[in-house]
Amino acid sequence: MEEVLQSKPVQEIALSCNGEIPEQFIHKDGFPQSKVDSVSYMDDFVIDFSLVFSPSSPESDHELGKLRSSLSQWGCFQAVNHGMTNDFLDKIREVGKQFFALPLEEKQKYSRGIDDWDGYGNDAVVSKQQTLDWMDRLYLTVNPENQRKLKYWPEKPVAFREIIHEYTLKLRVIFDLLMKAMARSLNLDDNCFLKEHGDMVTMFARFNFYPPCPTPESVLGVKPHADGVTFTVLLQDKEVEGLQVLKDDQWFKVPIVPDALFINVGDMLEIMSNGILKSPVHRVVINSERERISVAVFSFSDPDRVVGQLAGLVTDDRPQMY
Ligand code: OGA
Ligand code: NI
Repeated sequence: MEEVLQSKPVQEIALSCNGEIPEQFIHKDGFPQSKVDSVSYMDDFVIDFSLVFSPSSPESDHELGKLRSSLSQWGCFQAVNHGMTNDFLDKIREVGKQFFALPLEEKQKYSRGIDDWDGYGNDAVVSKQQTLDWMDRLYLTVNPENQRKLKYWPEKPVAFREIIHEYTLKLRVIFDLLMKAMARSLNLDDNCFLKEHGDMVTMFARFNFYPPCPTPESVLGVKPHADGVTFTVLLQDKEVEGLQVLKDDQWFKVPIVPDALFINVGDMLEIMSNGILKSPVHRVVINSERERISVAVFSFSDPDRVVGQLAGLVTDDRPQMY
């Protein structure tokens, strides 16, 4: 078996590199970040959760229509009126930032174990050809509660555990509501996605920290990927952009919508919906001046469970696609 090494924290490299970053981070295959300035913003899909989750009315039907369009065209949208205050969202970003601002030795108390996903670290180096992402992260299983590995949960800042616990509870409620709303937006029975998914909802939080990079034109914060989950809730940095989504072979910037949660479909939901809901390819670009933080929470079903298409979405016009 090949040895799995972790590269030095990107934060440390950023501090000591004097403008010259290690080869492994450089995209050599003509990575076109020079075109970043000309990238346009994606369509503005801001969806009011208080309407989407309320009993049927002309307003809620209109909002469900928007949900369906955004998820079938882009696979993502910005959720507002989700029931969490701005103050609370600020606290989540803040404890994340405070963690990454700790001295290296303190963060390394939570370093990822050899056979673990959870913990502090960055890309595992598995081959010399690999191009590394310009980002450090802290991964934590947050739901179900009995699967948390508390040894990886920072004790500094002091508020960290409490805030992430509270955030998890809120997102767990949103999970069910959103699965129902998505079903309803497709004119299906409210509970059909939930039934296919199963009761077990695993949630994994990933705190992403992107230090400034002296050569952002040839380096990515995160390579293009789709999330292999049911869906992802992303709390973006309040001021620094970076996330982009791919649509029809073109990249589009995701705007910062104050106090919104950015939600994207993952591969599992694309499969369950027989391809009607899209799991978008996305990437993160970085910049030379400002650090950026984001908190992604991935939700998915029991890994041993095989999800399939909902029968109601396989028709003569739309045969089974997976
Ligand atoms: C991810 C991801 C986007 C971001 O963690 O899978 O796509 O803006 N993050 O950090
Ligand atoms: Ni992602």
